[in-house]
Amino acid sequence: TRRISVHDIAAATERGEKWPMLTAYDAMTASVFDEAGIPVMLVGDSMGNCHLGYETTVPVTMDEMTVLSAAVVRGTKRALIVADLPFGAYQEGPVQALRNATRLIKDAGVGAVKLEGGERSHEQIRLLVEAGIPVMGHIGLTPQSVNAMGYRVQGRGEEAAQQLLRDAKAVQDAGAFAVVLELVPAELAAEVTRTLHIPTVGIGAGPETDAQVLVYTDMVGLTGGKVPRFTKQYTNLRQVMTDAARAYAEEVVGGTFPAAEHTFH
Ligand code: KIV
Ligand code: NA
Repeated sequence: TRRISVHDIAAATERGEKWPMLTAYDAMTASVFDEAGIPVMLVGDSMGNCHLGYETTVPVTMDEMTVLSAAVVRGTKRALIVADLPFGAYQEGPVQALRNATRLIKDAGVGAVKLEGGERSHEQIRLLVEAGIPVMGHIGLTPQSVNAMGYRVQGRGEEAAQQLLRDAKAVQDAGAFAVVLELVPAELAAEVTRTLHIPTVGIGAGPETDAQVLVYTDMVGLTGGKVPRFTKQYTNLRQVMTDAARAYAEEVVGGTFPAAEHTFH
């Protein structure tokens, strides 16, 4: 079976089908989502928060992105794998962006890359697309800019809404195959979705985008502490794993594990 391509997902959107995207950061989890039929997986720089133990996505390096992206590619057969360009890997300009995107394509084997910013990242997107690298844009809340913008809903008010529309068009005009809209009012996300012909992928952007994305650790209830209101926990893996770890510990301490069936003579 061949992998899903950017053309397949464009065709799905054209047919009016909504599609789901999830993040993944390791081969085993990615294989679960691949077998569950998730068509697009994002090796997000959210790995910084939910996999590497950083406070934000800002410290994530190209080396970390490359290693974990390669693992996700190895763990999957069917999904389109998109990898984030981390903070500092494309802000210097298009040539730097091309060098780092090329690493993710050649060394990790991903099918596409994602980078943050609309008008400000237009030249980077254009050069990557010209070089034959499919690019997913990311506008609205852009977590790599947390030190400047904080974490709050973007595009509120007429001026900010117009800027978001300009950013969306800049991403599309530069040749991106899709664009993430993060934490924007649903009405504005719907307007962007009607305005663009490329698929919009919402997170905290309401129900009218062409696709949705969630950070998988939030989606399976693995994230500790508070999670954003826009996520949904479909299960509680944190509780499941806590119970398993406690049961195992009790059995070891109590001498009931390993039992006869786990033992060789
Ligand atoms: O890194 C990430 O997980 C993302 C998604 C939230 C879109 O960029
Ligand atoms: Na990201």
